[in-house]
Amino acid sequence: MLQLIRSAEGLSRGEKSLSSEKSVNEQRRMLVVSTGAVGAAGALAAVSTLLMSMAPSERAKAAGAPVEVDLAKLEPGMLITEEWRGKPVWILHRTDDMLSKLGETKDLVSDPDSKLPMQPEYATNVERSIKPEYLVLVGICTHLGCSPTQKLEAGEASGLGADWSGGFFCPCHGSKFDLAGRVYKGVPAPANLEVPPHQFLSDSRLLIGDDAARS
Ligand code: FES
Repeated sequence: MLQLIRSAEGLSRGEKSLSSEKSVNEQRRMLVVSTGAVGAAGALAAVSTLLMSMAPSERAKAAGAPVEVDLAKLEPGMLITEEWRGKPVWILHRTDDMLSKLGETKDLVSDPDSKLPMQPEYATNVERSIKPEYLVLVGICTHLGCSPTQKLEAGEASGLGADWSGGFFCPCHGSKFDLAGRVYKGVPAPANLEVPPHQFLSDSRLLIGDDAARS
C-alpha cells in the first residue's frame, strides 16, 4: 500500500515536471516568435530609414526621374558621366577645335545628318546638340551595348592612328564614333550614339530625361 502511495506521488511529481517543461518550452517558443517579430520590424524600420536617408537626387535616380546636372565646373575639353535610368550619360564640353573636327568626319560617318528616326529633333544638326559646345550622349554602343572608350584626343596619342579626329571607340567589335557620337562607316554599330531627351534650365544647369519644355 505504502509503495502504491509512493508510486502515485512519483507519478504526480512526474506530471508536474512534464507540465513545467511544457511551460518552459511554451515560453521559449513565445520568446522566439516575439524576437522574430522584433527582428522583422527592425529590418523594416532599417529599410525605411535607408530610403528616408537617401538624398532627393538619389531617390530620383532610383525612380528614373530626370536628373539635373550643374555644368558650372565643366571646363572646355572635359567630359563627365551622369547616370540616368541606369544608363551612363556623357556630357562633353567641346572646345572650338573639337567642333571644327566635325567637318573633317562628315564624309567618314554613315549618318552625318542623323536622319535615322531615333534622334530627338535637336540632335539632327552637325553638332547633334542644343548648344554646340555641349554634347549629351548615352554612353552605350548601338551595336550590342558595350561601353565605348573615350578617345577624345586626336592623332597618334589616341592609339587609333594619326588621322583619328577624336571621339569614341568601342573595344568589343571596333565601332568608332566621332565627337558628335556619329558612327563611322564600315563598323558593326548601325546607328549614331543615342542623344537622350534633355534641356537647359539655365546657362549652367542641364536637365537629362525631360525635354517637354522644348516642345
Ligand atoms: S558592342 Fe560596340 S562594336 Fe559591338
